[in-house]
Amino acid sequence: MKEKIETILQEIENFSAQSKEQVEEYRIKWLSKKGEVTVLFDDFKNVAPELKREFGAKLNELKNKAQEKINLLKEKFESQNQISFQNIDLSLLAEPIAEIGSLHPINIVKKEITKIFEDIGFTLSEGREIEDDWHNFTALNTPEDHPARDMQDTFYIQTNPEIVLRTQTSSVQVHLMENNKPPIRTISPGRVYRNETVSARSHCQFHQIEGLYIDTNVSFADLKQTILYFAQRFFGAETKIRLRPSFFPFTEPSAEVDISCTICKGKGCNICKHSGWLEILGCGMVDPQVLTNCGIDSTKYKGFAFGMGIERIAMLKYKITDIRLFFENDIRFLKQFQSA
Ligand code: DAH
Repeated sequence: MKEKIETILQEIENFSAQSKEQVEEYRIKWLSKKGEVTVLFDDFKNVAPELKREFGAKLNELKNKAQEKINLLKEKFESQNQISFQNIDLSLLAEPIAEIGSLHPINIVKKEITKIFEDIGFTLSEGREIEDDWHNFTALNTPEDHPARDMQDTFYIQTNPEIVLRTQTSSVQVHLMENNKPPIRTISPGRVYRNETVSARSHCQFHQIEGLYIDTNVSFADLKQTILYFAQRFFGAETKIRLRPSFFPFTEPSAEVDISCTICKGKGCNICKHSGWLEILGCGMVDPQVLTNCGIDSTKYKGFAFGMGIERIAMLKYKITDIRLFFENDIRFLKQFQSA
């Protein structure tokens, strides 16, 4: 046993490993359950009692030496694997980020429209998507059984027919007039819902931007000029507008606004169905009855309002022909839009 201890001690002394794996190999050889050193400990019970003291000390020394050597070499290989901080070049450019996210095209367009109106003094306001019948219809001159309700197929909350998913952002007008004193000059973007069959041209959810301007001397000319300013900033300085008489229950007179076709510049193409014009929004002078409904003195104040669909504007801007693309979140579609 004495000899065996000496041999292993010598072996430990001379041992120097070339790799981490080799260190592990020797740890197993000496110190594992069936390792040489461990086996010697097992044999210790056979040692004569008078020699036990001497052998015990030797065996402990052997075990400690083996463990020390293994630890030392292990550390050496581990520290070789770590990067030395002195070798880091802090001036090196970072790896480029492969994919940068961007705003959804609807948000890009919403921000762009909002900015144009903010530049001419409109504030930004928001309403609620779950509305009561009064704000979505009745206050806007659309009482129950009014034929105009058919224009907007409504989602009702099943347990309470008084509560609807708003069909138009015009409902925000009512809140604003009920809660603020004129002058009011604000735009309200938001999501609206209609019980419509989903197709390339219509969806059961989409976005609108509502505009409202109430003051003592607001005229139809102000409305027309505001829309022209918007159209030329958004679609380009050469853009023309035309107003067609229309009907909305909450405005009188009412109009629909077309812009000269952004594709063919008015010559006629299949996007504008060869008319040279594209419809972009509805508008009009706020009906005095609506002012009264909302607690505003209609003998003193007048105003105009307009509403446009953001998807429609985005489809014209980006030449998109299927509204469903906005709601599918297909990464191949979204990737094509860049926002600042
Ligand atoms: N709320 C109308 C719609 O959803 C759009 C609209 C038309 C809004 C005329 C207005 C307006 O404020 O004056 O079809």
